[in-house]
Amino acid sequence: MTAQGHFDAACQKCINPDCAATFDCGEALFKCPRCGELLDVVYDWDKIPVPSKLSDVAARWASRDNSLDFSGVWRFRDLLDFCGDQYKVTVGEGQTICELNDAVGAYAGMKPGRLYLQYEGLNPSGSFKDNGMAAAFSHAKMIGASSCACASTGNTSASVALYAHKVGMKCTVFIGAGRIAFGKLSQAMDYGARTIQIKGDFDDCMRQVQSVCSELGLYLLNSLNPFRLEGQKSIMYRIIEQRGWRVPDWIVVPGGNLGNSSAFGKAFAELKVLGLISRIPRMAIINATGARTLTDLVNEKGLRWNGGRPAQKIIDDYYADLQARGFSPHTCASAIEIARPVNLKKVLRSIDICNGIVRAVTDRQICDAKAVVGMHGLGCEPASAATIAGLKDLIAAGTIGPDETVACVLTGHPLKDPDLTVGYHKEKRGRFSNPPVESPNDLAKIIELVRK
Ligand code: F0G
Repeated sequence: MTAQGHFDAACQKCINPDCAATFDCGEALFKCPRCGELLDVVYDWDKIPVPSKLSDVAARWASRDNSLDFSGVWRFRDLLDFCGDQYKVTVGEGQTICELNDAVGAYAGMKPGRLYLQYEGLNPSGSFKDNGMAAAFSHAKMIGASSCACASTGNTSASVALYAHKVGMKCTVFIGAGRIAFGKLSQAMDYGARTIQIKGDFDDCMRQVQSVCSELGLYLLNSLNPFRLEGQKSIMYRIIEQRGWRVPDWIVVPGGNLGNSSAFGKAFAELKVLGLISRIPRMAIINATGARTLTDLVNEKGLRWNGGRPAQKIIDDYYADLQARGFSPHTCASAIEIARPVNLKKVLRSIDICNGIVRAVTDRQICDAKAVVGMHGLGCEPASAATIAGLKDLIAAGTIGPDETVACVLTGHPLKDPDLTVGYHKEKRGRFSNPPVESPNDLAKIIELVRK
């Protein structure tokens, strides 16, 4: 360990193979200072006592009075070993359930015993973001940051606000005015974040927050932050853990800023290198049709990782066209209403690692799938339900077989977006609408209605 308390077995490394510059973990960078590309956290595995099999981690369940063993992120700390224990931050994240759900599976067209729902909405702030924040705030603490910021479609801001007050850090969140579900906005305000509503969309906020952070020296907590993605790897570890250390055939994940899908590919590549898994699952990333940059670039324009040298011109031309059209994304799944995903290049790498595919689903499909997860499972927010809608399409198309094992990552809690849920049911907007029935205050009439 170095004097600053971080391990010399980890460093930050530019993902551009023609640059490949490395930097100490004691720096807060978020983009390569030499070439501007994204950074990874990389490890010298020879210097880290990684367990010889994943199931060894299970021993930590016996010492759950140790908050790091209780954490569903830090229980796997050997696989994200970039800082000393004294810096590790936890609010009890990662106590999430991987549920076998045959009824939702049947809706998607799967055979019984095949579909697993990974409920990341069960995290303390109600979304998967807490996995990443546990890691990123630990890094922030290690480097002595005192003030932080993020742009958000809502969940990042809620999670950042929660962890910021846990560690005593000042925090500012940027959100697009009118682009955030109320459950999320209520959390940011309640947890004490300074909330700035910009007249623009998420992509505008993302651009502004980067300038604000570099101008004012604030610690940036968006998924450009490579330490955040290290925490999000743990979602995959927990799926494997809860399936008896077996990898499913497919992971299905919503695609927004593409942090999760980037982290998941990295997690599997590392587990494979370490000999902790023998095969890597395939990955399906699901966009909303109103925010389908990745779908367009991969499926229509043929963009690929290409050994770390994706065709920049394809990306530049696509964004120039969005700009020329004044395009702003629109979907009821506000969490993934993003047209310029910051992790685009990293996700191309994940697609390469996982033999991945990308699809887009409509708002109507998302809302119906969300109602099905609510009716037969623990519920989720709209962006999360894109996974079920996408899976249904992929099974209908024969891309995923009905007897393959699939884990859908349900990224956020159903209470995040009550307006959409109430509208769907009360206004009978979909196949599964379940509106309340009005009744006079009359016992006979009430009994008649209940009997029906
Ligand atoms: N699902 C939910 C519930 C989200 O909040 C997000 C992203 C995603 C999926 C997409 O994940 O970015 O890893 O592809 N929410 C961010 C936010 C953008 O600001 O809360 P991704």
